[in-house]
Amino acid sequence: MREPAALITGANGEVGHGLIRSLSANGTRNILALDLQPIDPRIAGLCRETYEGSILDKHLIERIVSEYKIREIYHLAALLSTRAEFTPESAHEVNVEGTLSLLKVALSQGTWQAEPVKFLFPSSIAIFGLPDLGIKAAETKVKEWRWTKPTTMYGCNKLYCEQLGRYYSDHYRQLSDEKEPVTVDFRCLRYPGLISADTLPQGGTSDFAPEMIHAAAQGKPYACFVREDTVIPFMVMPDAIDAILKLAAVEESQLTRRVYNVTSFSLTAGAIRDRVIRHFPGAVVTFEPDLKRQAIVDSWPGDVDDSLARSDWDWEPKYDADSAFADYLVPAISRYYAK
Ligand code: SER
Repeated sequence: MREPAALITGANGEVGHGLIRSLSANGTRNILALDLQPIDPRIAGLCRETYEGSILDKHLIERIVSEYKIREIYHLAALLSTRAEFTPESAHEVNVEGTLSLLKVALSQGTWQAEPVKFLFPSSIAIFGLPDLGIKAAETKVKEWRWTKPTTMYGCNKLYCEQLGRYYSDHYRQLSDEKEPVTVDFRCLRYPGLISADTLPQGGTSDFAPEMIHAAAQGKPYACFVREDTVIPFMVMPDAIDAILKLAAVEESQLTRRVYNVTSFSLTAGAIRDRVIRHFPGAVVTFEPDLKRQAIVDSWPGDVDDSLARSDWDWEPKYDADSAFADYLVPAISRYYAK
């Protein structure tokens, strides 16, 4: 008898860390963690199995599914937006082909189990593409279906995978003579820029916020790669984890769509600097915009409308901008670097 399990890809990433801790605390029995690198010892002990390898390695994926009955997939592995611009084709391979192969795992597992497999997929504000700063300023809360014209490979990849997930759940083999049973229960949330106290993102373009805060906590100067007036939405990691777990737990009948915006607070880079200096008075932050990365952040909305997530599955962030710094980031980061 294969035991039911939850598979987490990209387990070493910043969402993976928090998610594995929470799943473990919630009593999820068999957590299977997959990452390109050996699983971080801080979370490895919470997992039933850890796998070092690529989501594109078919043999590895086959081995995993031959040992367990996969009930949930949290597919977090991705090349983020800055990194993807240097190797767009590899980004497509990982971000799109990797996602397709995991959707196929969900499909075959769901068929075998005669019960849909939940597929949780983090998408991003990077799927939006606003043409200029005037429109960005005028579009105060962007709805899910507006301005979906990303400029980055990562944004294109995420937007397409949102559609792929919807296809596998709702329209798979729609011309087949037999009615296809629903075998994939795809649920997706579009994260804003994420900020964690104990991990730094790698290769993202919203990284200026976490980098600024982590540099200050270590007493290091930071040159911010976007202008002071640059604004995008943000969320701290505990809320990001709550959001994905909440979306995973809700009854499918409550969902009116498969892809939801979520956000907590919007701040300019200058306002983040002000908060950083308030909490770490010696911090040195300068602004030295990198025009190309700036253009990417300028194409992302200043705020998104997450009212559908709020009404369909009671999404509500615990932290606003003030409490995110005072109650989570500053104490947790200070503890982290004091170790
Ligand atoms: N934070 C991501 C990035 O910057 C966007 O989802 O690439």
